[in-house]
Amino acid sequence: NKQIIIEEDTTPIIEDEGPGDNKQEEEKIDKPIVYVCPTPKKEYDNMFLLNIGQTIGLPDKTYIPENLVELSSTISTRKNICLTQEVKDAFESMAKDALEDENIIKVSSGFRSYEYQQGLITNAIKNGKTDTDVSIAKAGYSEHQLGIAMDITGASIGYGSATGGFNETPEELWLRDNAYLYGFTQSYPYGKEDITGYKYEPWHYRYVGIDNAKKIKDLDLTITEFLNIKNTPE
Ligand code: DAL
Ligand code: ZN
Repeated sequence: NKQIIIEEDTTPIIEDEGPGDNKQEEEKIDKPIVYVCPTPKKEYDNMFLLNIGQTIGLPDKTYIPENLVELSSTISTRKNICLTQEVKDAFESMAKDALEDENIIKVSSGFRSYEYQQGLITNAIKNGKTDTDVSIAKAGYSEHQLGIAMDITGASIGYGSATGGFNETPEELWLRDNAYLYGFTQSYPYGKEDITGYKYEPWHYRYVGIDNAKKIKDLDLTITEFLNIKNTPE
């Protein structure tokens, strides 16, 4: 699923300085193979605050958000993890402050395409997982496809991805108290399974912006309830 492409030649064009200039021997530069985050192939409405969930999917399965950027190794556990620029910036500032409190947090999963999400389900079923309907969103129904949701892990569990072992680690407890200050909210909280439709996922956060995250915290709502109210005309 990784889209490997050859970087476009970005060597600056050096203008010919005129007669007598003989440095035009073309340099032979090894072009590096770099990963480039996916870009939308057409225009989509902004899905940033879509109340996506068990019953609400993306109107278009090919949806890819604009401005996906790859995360640096400081804040991600592997290569090729992308989030939108705004969310990456917010996560960076959160990770910096977490570090001041001696917690190292990193992203282990970010944007996931429709096909990638489908692959996750297929693999999970192949591996004998029986609760995929309440633990992995159907393709086209995942917050991950919005490019603004991420799975977070920490140094204390060796950066294990999407594991219950993250629950009540120092990093997880720190996120519970502080994530909203940076615009993040935990999408699938403990005890709210009936509302969210998914099992408790201590690692999964969604970016909603600081104002919304504060409201969600103050009102003690799930993202599902909050967006439901927010999107309902008065
Ligand atoms: N694990 C969450 C529900 C997802 O697959 O989007
Ligand atoms: Zn997730």
